[in-house]
Amino acid sequence: MKKLVVFVVCLLFVLSLAYAADYVGSKKCKMCHKGAKKGEVWEKWEKGHHAKAFETLKTDADKKNPECLACHTTGFGKGGYKAGDANAAKFEGVGCESCHGPGSDYKKMSVMKDRKKAIEAGMVMPTEALCKECHNKKSPDFKGFDFKEYMKKIDHTYREKK
Ligand code: HEC
Ligand code: HEC
Ligand code: HEC
Ligand code: HEC
Repeated sequence: MKKLVVFVVCLLFVLSLAYAADYVGSKKCKMCHKGAKKGEVWEKWEKGHHAKAFETLKTDADKKNPECLACHTTGFGKGGYKAGDANAAKFEGVGCESCHGPGSDYKKMSVMKDRKKAIEAGMVMPTEALCKECHNKKSPDFKGFDFKEYMKKIDHTYREKK
């Protein structure tokens, strides 16, 4: 019996890996999250530092250095940015999915409209801990991190808080 339980748990684990959501790139979020009616989420992101985080890496060596790419691209080492890949440009910089999780399973309208369904499909509502995966002393340019202050600079909420 014990062996069977272990087997089933392992099987579920392997299946969950096989079904992990894919990174789709920020442009896929644009069509539904741009414009005044939708809080100009896209426009705010595009103007901000996160969207430009790849250009910030000045030299070719830095642009290929996994140590820099980990925080200056989207989904590095998790199926997102891969140097030299044909799709790499989609994942340059800190895109929507760096914070909200890989979007292949939640980006459909029927799922997105329903927060519970979206979260089940892998959508993340990020917290301070997630920011600190990149905003920490491993960054050569770390300037400290005050969640409230930093949040104000990237805020793109537009709906009434529930
Ligand atoms: C087909 C349209 C569509 C696409 C594509 C889409 N969204 Fe959404 N999204 C919505 C709608 C509709 C809502 C509900 C809020 C609203 O109506 O403004 C929403 C809500 C959200 C929320 C807030 C959830 C909540 O419950 O507060 C996040 C975060 C989000 N989307 C992120 C993304 C990201 C990241 C992508 C790209 C990977 C994406 N969306 C792609 C339509 C879309
Ligand atoms: C995947 C890594 C990553 C995550 C996650 C991340 N950031 Fe960043 N953030 C960066 C990088 C890299 C830069 C520098 C971009 C540049 O200047 O090119 C940056 C820059 C910023 C800046 C601009 C700082 C300045 O000098 O004005 C703010 C504000 C910020 N982040 C807030 C946040 C907040 C708030 C969160 C969490 C909700 C967060 N970040 C999550 C990587 C990340
Ligand atoms: C642990 C995540 C992380 C790593 C690793 C990382 N960075 Fe950054 N980088 C950031 C964050 C976050 C910022 C924004 C600065 C801040 O507000 O602390 C940033 C900012 C920068 C800036 C802008 C500095 C400024 O003053 O505006 C440059 C340039 C930069 N990084 C280059 C690099 C290079 C080159 C590497 C690899 C050697 C690298 N980073 C590795 C997270 C990281
Ligand atoms: C640096 C991290 C970060 C990035 C990058 C980011 N977001 Fe967000 N997003 C957040 C945080 C934090 C919240 C607020 C969560 C909360 O209210 O609990 C949020 C909230 C949202 C909401 C809900 C707004 C509301 O009023 O309820 C939507 C929609 C959304 N993001 C879409 C996007 C899209 C689309 C992109 C890319 C164009 C994007 N986000 C990029 C961190 C990020």
